[in-house]
Amino acid sequence: MATTLLLVLFGSVSLALSVPPIHTQPEQVHISYPGVEGSMVITWTTLSVTESIVEYGQWGRKMFQFTAKGNSTLFVDGGREKRKMYIHRVILTQLVPGTAYLYHCGSDSGWSDLFYFTALRETWTDGPRFALFGDMGNENPQSLARLQKETQAGIYDIILHIGDFAYDMHEDDGKIGDEFMRQVESIAAYVPYMTCPGNHEEAYNFSHYRNRFSMPGDTESLWYSWNVGPAHIISFSTEVYFYLGYGLELLFKQYSWLKNDLEEANRPENRAVRPWIITMAHRPMYCSNDDKDDCTKFESYVRLGRNDTTPVAPGLEDLFYRYGVDLELWAHEHTYERLWPVYGFKVFNGSTEEPYVNPKAPVHIITGSAGCREKHDGFIPKPREWSAFRSTDYGYTRMQVINSTHLYLEQVSDDQYGKVIDSIMLVKERHGPEAWN
Ligand SMILES: *[C@@H]1O[C@H](CO)[C@@H](O)[C@H](O)[C@H]1NC(C)=O
Ligand SMILES: *[C@@H]1O[C@H](CO)[C@@H](O)[C@H](O)[C@H]1NC(C)=O
Ligand SMILES: *[C@@H]1O[C@H](CO)[C@@H](O)[C@H](O)[C@H]1NC(C)=O
Ligand SMILES: *[C@@H]1O[C@H](CO)[C@@H](O)[C@H](O)[C@H]1NC(C)=O
Ligand SMILES: *[C@@H]1O[C@H](CO)[C@@H](O)[C@H](O)[C@H]1NC(C)=O
Ligand SMILES: [Fe+2]
Repeated sequence: MATTLLLVLFGSVSLALSVPPIHTQPEQVHISYPGVEGSMVITWTTLSVTESIVEYGQWGRKMFQFTAKGNSTLFVDGGREKRKMYIHRVILTQLVPGTAYLYHCGSDSGWSDLFYFTALRETWTDGPRFALFGDMGNENPQSLARLQKETQAGIYDIILHIGDFAYDMHEDDGKIGDEFMRQVESIAAYVPYMTCPGNHEEAYNFSHYRNRFSMPGDTESLWYSWNVGPAHIISFSTEVYFYLGYGLELLFKQYSWLKNDLEEANRPENRAVRPWIITMAHRPMYCSNDDKDDCTKFESYVRLGRNDTTPVAPGLEDLFYRYGVDLELWAHEHTYERLWPVYGFKVFNGSTEEPYVNPKAPVHIITGSAGCREKHDGFIPKPREWSAFRSTDYGYTRMQVINSTHLYLEQVSDDQYGKVIDSIMLVKERHGPEAWN
């Protein structure tokens, strides 16, 4: 009895005296493209306060020839422990496009491992190569090892993570987010890791998402656009249609930003240089899954908007059609699905023989099968006529925007050890709304 009491007392005393470990070693390193040629943002985390420095140099030249300084923001998780972390950001500028750099980040209190990246070019001869996926978790991230190997082998220039990270970043007082960001360091520290928010980022008003990522623009990574090769890429939040409690005004702000951005991208001089307009966002307008999600309904909020709000909230299908968006990338459903060119639930093939040669409506791809603890989603037995190909294998998509007329897509099955299970060449001799005629 007395011993137990003593032990209990002793235990609580030592607990009260314990201090959190000093944590000045940089971790969770990831990079993103700020949308200005010759630049790159390096982002990382420490739990103790330190300086924010990146030392870097061209591959094969003097190591750490250049130094760039940035700053950190204190991010406090919304959970019970109110865990604190410092998110460091440094912008590198005046990089030579197409050139490889070696870098490490941190401060004199501790440096990260050594990483490398190639500065993005906005003009290419063979076109940028992407890996695309959504819905990857800390638990069961089945595609990650294959993506790590391929990224480090240099077959991708850019990764697009189309929402739903970690499952969920805020859980266990944010430690799930930390561990997930450590897991993806092996892809995200080497090529720009470009993101959009998904429903799993919702906690505390998307604060983990807004704090941990560093996307272009001034919306805390919620919506933004950027250019690479012959493509203009628009990332946005479908979540503004669902979490109205965080502000209906966000939905309208985003909508008018999208409209302006599309207007600008369609100015003849811009569309001539960047003919491909590609959107990425989490919840699709169409899908043939059996889980009663938004995309399973004819009246999808993302597609048609909402009329139970004041004012009524406009949907996005018409907007994207009017501005001649070529390709729409989605996730959320834990499956892969490719659609025939579609608008208003109707198929608009280029021709029956070659549906993706000069299609008369946007093409949609849903790629949310990277792997997470929620496993797979199911499909309805009989797909609608707009559904072209479906797979429940874990995997991810590769995309190459080859030139102004050709864009290649293929689906990799991780379950089948990297087998390509689907591919299309999207060919467009004309872009913009005129292409629909
Ligand atoms: C942190 O760095 C960013 C980007 O360089 C800069 O815009 C911002 O003003 C800096 N903030 C502080 C507090 O120095
Ligand atoms: C949620 O975050 C957004 C982006 O920072 C902000 O504009 C909005 O006001 C926030 N909503 C609430 C309810 O705090
Ligand atoms: C509002 O939208 C729903 C579908 O989401 C539709 O059934 C209903 O008729 C619409 N109501 C009005 C007043 O337009
Ligand atoms: C679109 O093209 C595909 C492939 O040829 C064909 O199977 C499908 O029936 C076509 N759909 C329509 C509505 O023409
Ligand atoms: C684009 O690439 C395709 C496939 O490599 C090629 O057939 C086509 O001629 C190229 N088009 C232009 C305009 O360079
Ligand atoms: Fe989701």
